[in-house]
Amino acid sequence: MAETVTINRVSKRFAAGGGATEVLTDIQLQIDAGEFVAILGPSGCGKSTLLRMVGGLERPSSGTVLIGEGEVSGADPRCAVVFQEPRLFPWKAIAANVALGARRQRGVVDTAGLLDRVGLTGFEKAYPHQLSGGMAQRAALARGLAGRPDVLLLDEPFAALDALTRMEMQDLLVEIRRDSQPTVLMVTHDIDEALYLADRVIVLGPRPASVVARVDVPLSRPRDRAAPELIGPREIILAAVGIAHPARVVRPAA
Ligand SMILES: Nc1ncnc2c1ncn2[C@@H]1O[C@H](COP(=O)(O)OP(=O)(O)O)[C@@H](O)[C@H]1O
Ligand SMILES: [Mg+2]
Repeated sequence: MAETVTINRVSKRFAAGGGATEVLTDIQLQIDAGEFVAILGPSGCGKSTLLRMVGGLERPSSGTVLIGEGEVSGADPRCAVVFQEPRLFPWKAIAANVALGARRQRGVVDTAGLLDRVGLTGFEKAYPHQLSGGMAQRAALARGLAGRPDVLLLDEPFAALDALTRMEMQDLLVEIRRDSQPTVLMVTHDIDEALYLADRVIVLGPRPASVVARVDVPLSRPRDRAAPELIGPREIILAAVGIAHPARVVRPAA
């Protein structure tokens, strides 16, 4: 069952030298159950830190993170995290790696079914070094889904893949979400990826980061990557990240 995520006035400081570096400041974000939210922001602004706090891998310096009604206070079994690199155990076969994702005892894990969903049938007994980057990342996604997470946390999961493989993975994610609808919080640096996947895009500013834009993407799925409805949200996001101003975007003459 998908859960709401509430990030309530969260700030995060890290000890640095003799003092402290503020990374995130006063982040307020309410994510609906089953909603897909993408987080964009400059490198080093605290996106991974924010995701880690939702997953309970890091504690806020102030403020609270809630999943459903409960405050997150440690690594949370309702969350699964998929990172930029697959992080598979090299000495375990793919099926065994995927089965490791089942942290909760909800009966037998359907490893074969999960591998089928991510297009890795026949690779159960293969080892990570025998897979391409895209295949290894699909295995990592299957492992994330194995625990039937209420909240799926994705930290630039496709960033290391080539453009075509990345699009295939995005489509796979759309497909997977059709039947199991976890709440998804995805960090990405790819604006088009955010627009293709998310219900809402949150843009963070430079460190110490706060939310500089919240952009709705009110388009049903599967989406057309070139949909004219995405032009407006893209302009707003580009302006928020400082790339262009909407007033300077040249429109073709009617
Ligand atoms: N455990 C830590 N201790 C000290 N500083 C950290 C720690 N984790 C992250 N940072 C710092 O916090 C800032 C934000 O990091 P991160 O969340 O990884 O940024 P992003 O994912 O947006 O690139 C960086 O300056 C990073 O060096
Ligand atoms: Mg990061």
